[in-house]
Amino acid sequence: MNIQDKIKELLDLRQQAKMGGGEKRINAQHEKGKLTARERLELLLDEGSFEEFDMFVSHRCIDFGLEKETYLSDGVVTGYGTIDGRLVYVFSQDFTVFGGSLSEMFAAKICKIMDKAMKVGAPVIGINDSGGARIQEGVKSLGGYADIFQRNIMASGVIPQISAIFGPCAGGAVYSPALTDFNIMTKGTSYMFVTGPKVVKTVTGETVTSEELGGASIHSTKSGVAHFVAETEEEGILLIRKLLSYLPQNNLEEAPLAPCFDPIDRFDDALNEIIPENTNKPYDVKDVILSIVDNGEFLEVQRDFAPNIVTCFARFNGMSVGIVANQPKYLAGVLDINASRKAARFVRFCDAFNIPLVTLVDVPGFLPGTAQEYGGIILHGAKLLYAYGEATVPKVTIILRKAYGGAYDVMSSKHLRGDINYAWPGAEIAVMGPKGAIEVLLSRDLSSIEDEKAKIAFLSKKEEEYKEKFANPYVAAKFGYIDDVIEPRNTRFRVIRALQSLATKKDVNPPKKHSNLPL
Ligand code: HXC
Repeated sequence: MNIQDKIKELLDLRQQAKMGGGEKRINAQHEKGKLTARERLELLLDEGSFEEFDMFVSHRCIDFGLEKETYLSDGVVTGYGTIDGRLVYVFSQDFTVFGGSLSEMFAAKICKIMDKAMKVGAPVIGINDSGGARIQEGVKSLGGYADIFQRNIMASGVIPQISAIFGPCAGGAVYSPALTDFNIMTKGTSYMFVTGPKVVKTVTGETVTSEELGGASIHSTKSGVAHFVAETEEEGILLIRKLLSYLPQNNLEEAPLAPCFDPIDRFDDALNEIIPENTNKPYDVKDVILSIVDNGEFLEVQRDFAPNIVTCFARFNGMSVGIVANQPKYLAGVLDINASRKAARFVRFCDAFNIPLVTLVDVPGFLPGTAQEYGGIILHGAKLLYAYGEATVPKVTIILRKAYGGAYDVMSSKHLRGDINYAWPGAEIAVMGPKGAIEVLLSRDLSSIEDEKAKIAFLSKKEEEYKEKFANPYVAAKFGYIDDVIEPRNTRFRVIRALQSLATKKDVNPPKKHSNLPL
């Protein structure tokens, strides 16, 4: 063979690899409304930036007739490229080759790019679309999964790891996405479960569809497994690109600074009026977020899971921040199990990746009741407390209205190393709300009043007195727990100044093997 023939051979092999499991299966993939592994990478990465590894890898299995059926790339496309000019490592499972099932060599390809990403400190994005362990390969496949899990664990908190679920993801295969930082699912074409509908039927007798068991809507509302849901794969891919724009490359770097044309001293008079007169009336905390962040832009994480707390990425004067905000519009912004879990994970992610935290507080306390207590609200609430207390990134807190009881402490209070803590003038910082407090403190006086009208008048007078005395920001400000009481319309400017003053903040936790977060 001369060099021309050799080059032709190379090009032919490349073409063969690019065809994955063949035209018929590619068409079947398209008919399901799904893109192929390579089409997905083309959309994800900057044009022409993809460099592929291990195109010529094929499986080593000789059981079940597999020695006669091999495909170049072996069901997963791996390599690196750029997103907005920044390096990322990627893998994309190819459903057209043995249903994207994971073999020994398939796993080795993923491990290779994960190792490289760790060495250079670049994010890993994995696109999942797979029938799980390649049945013919048996334990080799199980070992391959565990090799990936181990790398997910070592990479956790070092480089951002993002999983897209664009097809099936079942059995132990779910645990790699679960170990990564963010999961993105597509509506109608993706599902995740530990055991599928057939096994569920056999074991529990329950009849359930794949969608009901582990579709995007379930994982984005009930389980909290999915952080983002996209209508289409194209939308999901754009979401990944956007998400990355808020993140640093690794835990030793800062998130990129975006150009900011939104004036830092932009006042918003509407904020002075946003809190209803009646303190039990709701408002939408997202209106506050929209008003104060750069260009009114933010990227919400787990939007439909525990909506009583909002977690999102946004920017202040171009600086990437993580915002945690109680949402009075849902369950009065109460902290429950799911809200605590959601916010705790978000806070820990931001802390691991040097993203400052801005916390907007309007919380009536923890949700009471047997469902919460039996479900372990004590431990879950402690997770959020722990996450804030452990975090060493700049922490700016604004109490918008209520900060009652333990929830006052938890929500990035001064006592948990909150750096700059502000309150709006209508803030109520107290052990509990006026009504509850009066009922506890004056129960004897109340029981001695027989006339119902007189009782109500007495109650409202005492509540007013309590409010005047305790339910305001000045008692906390008197003790220095609040650094300043600020005018709501000036919040954007004050937050930016606070973040600027904290840009060089250094704080450390005592040396330890690892913490013992209440799980
Ligand atoms: C080998 C597989 C495969 C697998 C699918 N295929 N799954 N090959 N191992 N796990 C092959 C099929 O034989 C078929 O080959 C092609 O992929 C497409 O599969 P279809 O069934 O035709 O596609 P579809 O109807 O869309 O159904 C997709 C599916 C189904 C729901 C994923 O294939 C399925 O249920 N597969 C088995 C899933 C499973 O039980 N996996 C093991 C889970 S246990 P041809 O040649 O016809 O194109 C597990 C443990 C992991 O993963 C533990 C980690 C710790």
